[in-house]
Amino acid sequence: MDKTLILTGLRANNDLHIGNYFGALKPLIDMAKNRSNEYEVNLFVPDLHSFTTPIDHATLQQQIMHNLRLFVAAGLPLDNESIHIYRQSYIPAHSELTWILDCFTGMGEMRRMTQFKEKSTKLLTQNPTAELHDTESRDITVGLFNYPVLMAADILLYGATYVPVGDDQSQHLEYARDIAERMNNRFGELFVIPKPVKVQHEFFGKDQGLRIRNLQNPSKKMSKSEESDKGIIFLGDDPIVAAKKIMSAETDSLAKIPDSLDFNMQPGLSNLLQILSLLKDENIHDTLNRYVGQNQYGPLKREVSEATKKFLEDYQARLSNVDDTELISKLERDERTLNIAANARLLKVQQAVGLRPFV
Ligand code: TRP
Repeated sequence: MDKTLILTGLRANNDLHIGNYFGALKPLIDMAKNRSNEYEVNLFVPDLHSFTTPIDHATLQQQIMHNLRLFVAAGLPLDNESIHIYRQSYIPAHSELTWILDCFTGMGEMRRMTQFKEKSTKLLTQNPTAELHDTESRDITVGLFNYPVLMAADILLYGATYVPVGDDQSQHLEYARDIAERMNNRFGELFVIPKPVKVQHEFFGKDQGLRIRNLQNPSKKMSKSEESDKGIIFLGDDPIVAAKKIMSAETDSLAKIPDSLDFNMQPGLSNLLQILSLLKDENIHDTLNRYVGQNQYGPLKREVSEATKKFLEDYQARLSNVDDTELISKLERDERTLNIAANARLLKVQQAVGLRPFV
């Protein structure tokens, strides 16, 4: 297994949106399909991560399967041995390695994580009976706190080099690098160190999908943790509703389409052009060239809106045609293979820390 491994987890809590699709899912699937002699891809559902904040457990199973079907509708081939799909909890080595890494991770390191701070503050403000800043609150779980450790285990178990994630996960990725380095320094070469965030962005072309912004608030990225759905195009959105979301996207009052994109000056407009180029699989410069010099945004919005509607119709048609039997058979096959790989790496770690004898 000398191929470079690209790995990512897509959470099952919410429907995926076009930011996830163009930023993570599609580039990954394309990479596995077109460059399978160089790359191997692990694409998994981090089901253990999905209840670090409260969810409806009665629907989790459905959500997990739904997400896996979304992968298939996005073009994931079920007969390609270079791309593996799996459910995190079906490979117990993730949890085992997490515990070991937990014991080499400082409380302070975790406390500094921006996502932990944000999510815990949100949980406290949502619960009217909780005292703000009450660190003893049961609403904020240890699971949420050490979420990044489980994520590091996800990455390090398989020796991933590239991990396409959004900006909100950069800090977690940096921690994964830190803990890998720390363990290697102390115990010898146990882990592959994933590339630094900057190199990851270069590799995946950060100016592509990772930049998709919220339609209502284009200075921020499109993220499912947003309160309102108005600025987000979910893959499960009714195509007509989605088309309307595009029509009411926030732009600016400059009323000018310039000859180069400036996300600082015209974030909303740049975002729409970006989305259009992705939907049409067209070079962004070509997209821009078709509109450059125009002094109204209506025609552009209409084209993006139409393209979005068409994209969702096609996507949803593929989704309803996914063959579950085939999907589950691929899933179980990959889970068997990956259990072997994960256990081999885990054993090296267990030996290094003294839990297993060296043989
Ligand atoms: N934390 C990621 C998110 O919320 C999901 C995730 C879990 C992940 N484990 C991972 C992503 C490992 C990449 C690699 O988006």
